[in-house]
Amino acid sequence: MQKIEKKWIGNIRGEDVYAFLVTNGKGTLSAEILTYGGILRSLWYKGTDVALGRETLEDYFDNDGYIGPIIGRHAGRIQDAFFTLNRKTYILPKTENERVNLHSGDGFHTRVWQAEEVSGEEAAIKLSLVSPDGDGGFPGEVTVSVTFTVTNDDALRISYCAHTDADTLVNLTSHGYFNLNGHDSGSIENHTIVMNAAYYLPNNTLCAPTGEIRSVEGTSFDMRQEKRIGALLHADFPETNRFGGFDHTMVLQGTGFRKIAEVTGDKTGITMECITDRPGVHFYTGNKIDPLATYKHRTVYSTYQGFCLETQLFPDSMKYPFFPSVILKSGETFQSKTEYRFMLKKEKGK
Ligand code: BGC
Repeated sequence: MQKIEKKWIGNIRGEDVYAFLVTNGKGTLSAEILTYGGILRSLWYKGTDVALGRETLEDYFDNDGYIGPIIGRHAGRIQDAFFTLNRKTYILPKTENERVNLHSGDGFHTRVWQAEEVSGEEAAIKLSLVSPDGDGGFPGEVTVSVTFTVTNDDALRISYCAHTDADTLVNLTSHGYFNLNGHDSGSIENHTIVMNAAYYLPNNTLCAPTGEIRSVEGTSFDMRQEKRIGALLHADFPETNRFGGFDHTMVLQGTGFRKIAEVTGDKTGITMECITDRPGVHFYTGNKIDPLATYKHRTVYSTYQGFCLETQLFPDSMKYPFFPSVILKSGETFQSKTEYRFMLKKEKGK
């Protein structure tokens, strides 16, 4: 029987925060979602917790690594922290290197969302919030909802919806970190990956796109055949050398809701498929995970402890008109969907 359990975990700025444990009908997949930041704190698949998370609610108040939350209004980097829309220039706070707006500064990952249980065949909760006009420097009042469904075929489905009363930018994602050997099992270097991307966006030194869309052919970014993540990370390639691993947006093949990647943990044989309707995914290999922060069960996490598949539109798109548009027009609806689906494909340890 599917079930949803709700637990009070604390308070911030006078608002109560809850953790929801959402379990599917077979009892094989459970997601723990916090109403603070829409954080994915834990994700148990057949007894293995495959999501990185922090110990207490307070630990998330200083969440530099963006461990698990929903990112909005705009995921990724906006270099020089400005954009021009309808001939007006909007200045955003510079949150990184005094040059860049990353993940919208005090964005949706710092908000307390309203939660409701969604009734239906599958266990789901819906989080929503209203982002006022001018929030984080962005125009328009935006009403957002994010529904987390734990499906009976072992997927965590994240469905995003947003409306605005004035033209603005919307590019939402989830910053969940995964380790398919278990969150406390060390590095993901021995995980294997396949990704259906023939191009990627090279970064400049600020980790923002240069505007080039480059072929993966002959590079460490070619994951069209199964590769070991560690082999790609440590291959001597300027783009990964500079960032200590992957921190890049991949340009996904095809359109519509399609499978774009598959990652397998070597120790458990757990495979995660990623299915999305987005044109891009920001592939981040946890290059900068803070070993001194407090994580779940006081586990010490280190570099490469988890990876993120941040499905999204491309970062800094307002500067590059040939990138898919991040503009949400007044009266229009933003809708998107990503699934992280789990299965045991390989025998344990093989
Ligand atoms: C960024 C990384 C950053 C990470 C955690 C990613 O989305 O691209 O550069 O370190 O989030 O903060």
